Amino acid sequence: MVDRPVVFSGMQPSGDLHLGNLLGALRPWVLEQHLFHNYFCVVDLHALTLPWDPKAIQAKTREVAALYIASGIDPKTSTLLVQSHVPEHAELSWLLGCLTPMGWLERMTQFKDKSRRRDSERIGSGLFTYPVLMAADILLYQTNFVPVGEDQRQHLELTRNIAIRFNHLLGETFTVPEARIGQMGAGSKVMSLDDPERKMSKTDGSDAGVIRLLDPADRIRAKFRRAKTDTGQAVELDHPSAGVANLLEIYRALSGCTQEEIGAQFEGVGYGRLKDQVADRAIAAIEPIQARFRELTSDPATLDQILGQGAAAAQEVAARTMQEVRSRVGLLPAQPA
Ligand code: TRP
Repeated sequence: MVDRPVVFSGMQPSGDLHLGNLLGALRPWVLEQHLFHNYFCVVDLHALTLPWDPKAIQAKTREVAALYIASGIDPKTSTLLVQSHVPEHAELSWLLGCLTPMGWLERMTQFKDKSRRRDSERIGSGLFTYPVLMAADILLYQTNFVPVGEDQRQHLELTRNIAIRFNHLLGETFTVPEARIGQMGAGSKVMSLDDPERKMSKTDGSDAGVIRLLDPADRIRAKFRRAKTDTGQAVELDHPSAGVANLLEIYRALSGCTQEEIGAQFEGVGYGRLKDQVADRAIAAIEPIQARFRELTSDPATLDQILGQGAAAAQEVAARTMQEVRSRVGLLPAQPA
């Protein structure tokens, strides 16, 4: 069998997964999972880069893993893993950090944004080295493609530069990965419903703007009904406001319709009807995911077993990479006792 290209992606177990994650990430991952050798990771170590609640993180980790599966990621086709279960992630992160110039990390806009309003006496240095851990995640598996959102483009570029630098200084070791930004599917950018100039966000959106995958159907409908539009009454496709364009885009992604079909269906349609139809589609997509999620979480032992198998499969590959990395770096191999 010809080796399939390797895909790696991940989400943090912080905040609640929402419609933007489903349409922009999970769905496209699922649709193409058979074409690749996939690693889908719950990046719990990354969730420690901002203050966290030690009592909440386990449940959140299981929740995200269960939502991966409930959304269609098949643990038989794709390797599903929790980052901290494979200690090679943290180990490689240290070694790569020693080869990553401070200046490269200082240029990361996400770090600048997230650290801006915080006191540097309190903020953990993990927030600064976050992208190095992300590079380790990706490079451990000799990844070819990384499907991520636009917001991760700079981190991917950094990952490539770290791989190139390592290969150049210490010898050809890592595959240099390529970003797949919003290419893997429709609806890669879902905006907040109450502030359509901003992305729908796990961590910094208002509740009203975010359709959570675990929201009950009546909440979902109520949020769409209150979605921000404009002072008009009905869809004018020539110049829709940001809010209307977002609703149309969500409908398009959920329905699989073309732009032309959307045009024919919604030109001149009142905003109330548009909202109801988008809500219908969203609920129809989310309800089966919730049913599967309830099944999976009612049996945490089975879920943990799936994650155990994923970690074991991942670790086999990660350990192989680390063996080569240690030798390239020049560390003394430990002898068995
Ligand atoms: N930083 C990514 C995000 O916040 C999550 C992530 C961590 C990731 N490691 C990764 C994504 C490796 C892709 C590949 O979205």
